[in-house]
Amino acid sequence: MTKTSPARIIDGKAVSAAIRAELARHVAIIREQRAVQPGLAVILIGDDAPSQVYVKSKEKLAAEAGFRSVVYRRPADTPEEPLLTLIEGLNEDPEIHGILVQLPVPPQIDEAKVIETISPEKDVDGFHPMNVGRLATGQDAPIPCTPLGCLTLLKRELGDLAGLHAVVVGRSNIVGKPMATLLLRENCTVTMAHSRTRDLPALCREADILVPAIGKPRFIRGDWVKPGAAVIDVGINRIDAGKGDGSTRLVGDVDFDEAVKVAGLITPVPGGVGPMTIAMLLRNTLEAYCRIHRIAFPLA
Ligand code: GUN
Repeated sequence: MTKTSPARIIDGKAVSAAIRAELARHVAIIREQRAVQPGLAVILIGDDAPSQVYVKSKEKLAAEAGFRSVVYRRPADTPEEPLLTLIEGLNEDPEIHGILVQLPVPPQIDEAKVIETISPEKDVDGFHPMNVGRLATGQDAPIPCTPLGCLTLLKRELGDLAGLHAVVVGRSNIVGKPMATLLLRENCTVTMAHSRTRDLPALCREADILVPAIGKPRFIRGDWVKPGAAVIDVGINRIDAGKGDGSTRLVGDVDFDEAVKVAGLITPVPGGVGPMTIAMLLRNTLEAYCRIHRIAFPLA
């Protein structure tokens, strides 16, 4: 297959804004009709700079869409016990429908224990082992936000994904593993690649859908991309902007300037997958509200 025109660049920011506007319409109707407003609680432990930016964005966009939006900020040396007590309180709070603990957590806190303490019905990340198991066995479950954002973009652009070869690069619990599960559910042929995969460039060249999520700036080169492929870049890496003044800029896991000449579709960084994650978090929060209040979820 040869390819002469550059890839279509997917505007994740615009798609996210459209989805958030639709969610806001539904939240407004609920607020008119019901006493309880959909509520999201986010917990941030410590002062990791990217996490602070993400949480601020979640807080602002949740409120903008009409959700009750509460953020609990705690110092980096917070012990595990009071954090678990806070989560248990939110599990019982009738005004909170979604709970998210921003990861990573500091080393004195057991991440698995934190995730297991969140009530599965308020687990808007879909990270609780019960929800992971439910998703893997084809049952109804909240879907982790970043993979759901990637899938939403892919389905909007490509429609039916059945039979396509998807290569997911990276095997994290947050992105790689649930992404593979979702693509399998869409009847893709799925390959999971990781740091020990042999001849990664050759494997990537087999992909109709390529989803890198490894946190290595511009690692995936243009000649690793199959002509016409859909490239969904999950990486968000901060690098020196090269201006000599210490300023930085964001790049993905894909060398965008090279890959855009080869791919059929590609997401930019910033402005691709990143904004979709928050839209999906709000979607999952509204879905949790609907499940808890036993009303129909209004979206597909
Ligand atoms: N840190 C990076 N991505 C995520 C995410 O999707 N959820 C949570 N809770 N923490 C994260």
